[in-house]
Amino acid sequence: MRIGIIGAGNMGAALGKIWAKAGHEVIFSYSRDQHKLRQLAASAGKTAQVGTPQEAVAHSDVILFAVWAPSLAEVIHAVGPLDSKIVITCVSGIQPDFTGQTIGLATDLTISVAETIQQLAPNARVVEAFNTTFAEILASDSRQFGSEFPSVFYCGDDSEAKQLVAGLIEACGYEAVDAGKLIVARTLETLATAWVQFAVASQLFPNLGLKALRR
Ligand SMILES: NC(=O)c1ccc[n+]([C@@H]2O[C@H](COP(=O)([O-])OP(=O)(O)OC[C@H]3O[C@@H](n4cnc5c(N)ncnc54)[C@H](OP(=O)(O)O)[C@@H]3O)[C@@H](O)[C@H]2O)c1
Repeated sequence: MRIGIIGAGNMGAALGKIWAKAGHEVIFSYSRDQHKLRQLAASAGKTAQVGTPQEAVAHSDVILFAVWAPSLAEVIHAVGPLDSKIVITCVSGIQPDFTGQTIGLATDLTISVAETIQQLAPNARVVEAFNTTFAEILASDSRQFGSEFPSVFYCGDDSEAKQLVAGLIEACGYEAVDAGKLIVARTLETLATAWVQFAVASQLFPNLGLKALRR
């Protein structure tokens, strides 16, 4: 699979590396530091390269948005057409000081960031995922906690896109849990903020994994 990474920070770097090492063709983009991007691609292996955000989108079937919420509208404008692309968003809307949650973007403050992406790119196939993971765990050697593997909740309106994203979640060593339609992103993004706040308050950050238990 060809995967374009928009945002090469904690999340973009960690996820891109995992997918590149699993054999996917990964293009890292959208950093203010080209040297950092080149080093990242080199460390991710032979199937990784560097590109502009436009190249990352144009040459990929799946796009990961791993940027901060305030820059998202600008990013979507900059990357060009997203028609028919599967867009994974891990953008939680958490405020940088972890104290609160931005619901949606300036276009509509009542909906989720993920739904806002869908509004800005109506023909993209948007799936929200990885919001309750911590980049430090993704960057570590394993996602295992004792005998358990944490869950990653994902949601979206395109069932084929969701199935593909579930495979990419499992490739990272998580259990993929279908949380429903894209509207569920409103609560998933808020859950992500609560999860970070709990991790900080409990002083366990980042050594926590969220798990859906069943009986
Ligand atoms: N970190 C986590 O554990 C975690 C977990 C779940 C969800 N999330 C969400 O994932 C998103 C990314 O988080 P992150 O921790 O990966 O962030 P990050 O490390 O700050 O990465 C952001 C990326 O955006 C790039 N960027 C380009 N232009 C920028 C600009 N003008 N201002 C700021 N950044 C710019 C940064 O460039 P540079 O390379 O030049 O810095 C960097 O590559 C956020 O929405 C966050 O809520 C994060």
